[in-house]
Amino acid sequence: MVNQRLALVALAGLFAPLTTASRAANFWRRQAASTTAYAPVPSKTPTITPVVPNTSPSYVDSFVKPYGDAFQLNGMPYYFAGANAYWLMNQTDDWVDSAFGNLSAQGIGVVRTWFFNDGWFHTINGTEQAFNDSPEGIGHLDYVVKRARDYGIKLIATLANNWPDYGGVHYYLHQTGYNYHSDFFTQPELIDLYKGYISHMLNRVNNYTGIAYKDDATFFAWELMNEPRCLSYTDIKSQNCTTATMTAWIDDISTYIKSIAPNTMVTIGDEGWFNNPSLVDNWLYDGFNGIDFEANLQLKNIDFGTFHTYPDHGWGAGTTSYDLSFEWGEQWIRQHRTIGAQVGKPVINEEYGFAQRTDRMSFEQYYYSVTEDIGIAGDLFWSFWIAPPDGSPIAENNSPNSTYTPGLNYYVNDTDWPIIRQHIYNMAQQNLPVGEGDFSCFGARNIFCSETVA
Ligand SMILES: *[C@@H]1O[C@H](CO)[C@@H](O)[C@H](O)[C@H]1NC(C)=O
Ligand SMILES: *[C@@H]1O[C@H](CO)[C@@H](O)[C@H](O)[C@H]1NC(C)=O
Ligand SMILES: *[C@@H]1O[C@H](CO)[C@@H](O)[C@H](O)[C@H]1NC(C)=O
Ligand SMILES: *[C@@H]1O[C@H](CO)[C@@H](O)[C@H](O)[C@H]1NC(C)=O
Ligand SMILES: *[C@@H]1O[C@H](CO)[C@@H](O)[C@H](O)[C@H]1NC(C)=O
Ligand SMILES: *[C@@H]1O[C@H](CO)[C@@H](O)[C@H](O)[C@H]1NC(C)=O
Ligand SMILES: *[C@@H]1O[C@H](CO)[C@@H](O)[C@H](O)[C@H]1NC(C)=O
Repeated sequence: MVNQRLALVALAGLFAPLTTASRAANFWRRQAASTTAYAPVPSKTPTITPVVPNTSPSYVDSFVKPYGDAFQLNGMPYYFAGANAYWLMNQTDDWVDSAFGNLSAQGIGVVRTWFFNDGWFHTINGTEQAFNDSPEGIGHLDYVVKRARDYGIKLIATLANNWPDYGGVHYYLHQTGYNYHSDFFTQPELIDLYKGYISHMLNRVNNYTGIAYKDDATFFAWELMNEPRCLSYTDIKSQNCTTATMTAWIDDISTYIKSIAPNTMVTIGDEGWFNNPSLVDNWLYDGFNGIDFEANLQLKNIDFGTFHTYPDHGWGAGTTSYDLSFEWGEQWIRQHRTIGAQVGKPVINEEYGFAQRTDRMSFEQYYYSVTEDIGIAGDLFWSFWIAPPDGSPIAENNSPNSTYTPGLNYYVNDTDWPIIRQHIYNMAQQNLPVGEGDFSCFGARNIFCSETVA
């Protein structure tokens, strides 16, 4: 029997400190190439049995919390490999059933999904905002939350979108007469509208369970926005928007969410851009998008950091030493983990995907190996899809104003699914005790260690 008191063992020395400019410069430029050997690609479903999400009340009714730079649930570590399934809020109940049934069967316990459908869940007209709480509107989310809860699946609930899919910042601007993308982050009228939406959602009482969203441990975290940036391709970019603009907004909104839902974790949903213009002349690292990962992670009400990894979408193909997308992806994962360890908060690789669908197996093996090795607290592939249960054709790209790339989706019958399933299993194994006699450790770097009770 494991003692619930956990001792955080020293992290010192595990990550190179960035104490001098030259060390920092080396760090940003290129970390040592990996020499890890990769297992051969499994040709069929692995024989491992998925560790399915736990549906016991003590698990379902407990909030996931940060524990140093990892997560814990009920005093046990909570490492995970999960999925993005943004579309649950806009599909039928039986489709939601199929999705959670299949996710659970694959051992997936954390799902990130959209808690917005702007123009449908709510309509804005100037400073007026009207909510559609009907069972076809926001009420449908009650079913999503209930079914997640039934399966012991925890939800990362995203409350807005930087992009125009399902409304987003563009919808708010369009309905209020503002033009600059960053007006959303700076104009008091728009901040009030968004806070009004947040308040309405978090205070909602689930029609099936009777539990208010703000009190429901089904929520892993509330998320400010999908990929907030100073810009999008639909709106005018203001030169005034800087990382300071975005950090101030993130501080304000995260504090507001905590004031309503103090038990639920809060995160940003950003892509993890750095703000080190003196170090690297590359848009991922120079603050161009208005995101300073390091500064944002230090905000009081941000519980963990998010980053997204799209190595073959041009993200790794910048200047000089960044032109090898494959190695760039590993570096990107390591850099965020290092900052998380320094700040003392978990970081998750919240979206990753590969445009080269046929080649993605080698990417997956490479990054999973690194992720498991260095103690990334969780990751979520982009994105999970499943055929409609009524047998109608798959329509992956079904959002108004959609920009999603269908080729990025994952189905459980994909040829590389065994690799993902192995990764889901490996991450879950970190939550099981490893040790002998009167001492057990869990997780990467053994940060969860506990004395056992005789
Ligand atoms: C999906 O959203 C659209 C509005 O964008 C709405 O008309 C439709 O009823 C929604 N469908 C479901 C199943 O929620
Ligand atoms: C998985 O999805 C398929 C297709 O929608 C569905 O028929 C099946 O019942 C689902 N499995 C579970 C366990 O829910
Ligand atoms: C917004 O409100 C104005 C003034 O009440 C009204 O004339 C207009 O039709 C409304 N527009 C929408 C889209 O509801
Ligand atoms: C709440 O549940 C009742 C009874 O099942 C149902 O009639 C009503 O439409 C539901 N409301 C919402 C918003 O889902
Ligand atoms: C989609 O874009 C059009 C054109 O900008 C806009 O009128 C409409 O409101 C957008 N739809 C949503 C749901 O944001
Ligand atoms: C940018 O800042 C200047 C000076 O504070 C201000 O006059 C201008 O309106 C701002 N522009 C935008 C688009 O916010
Ligand atoms: C996987 O399932 C989907 C939906 O049922 C189907 O469209 C697709 O062809 C299948 N892919 C493979 C590789 O069998």
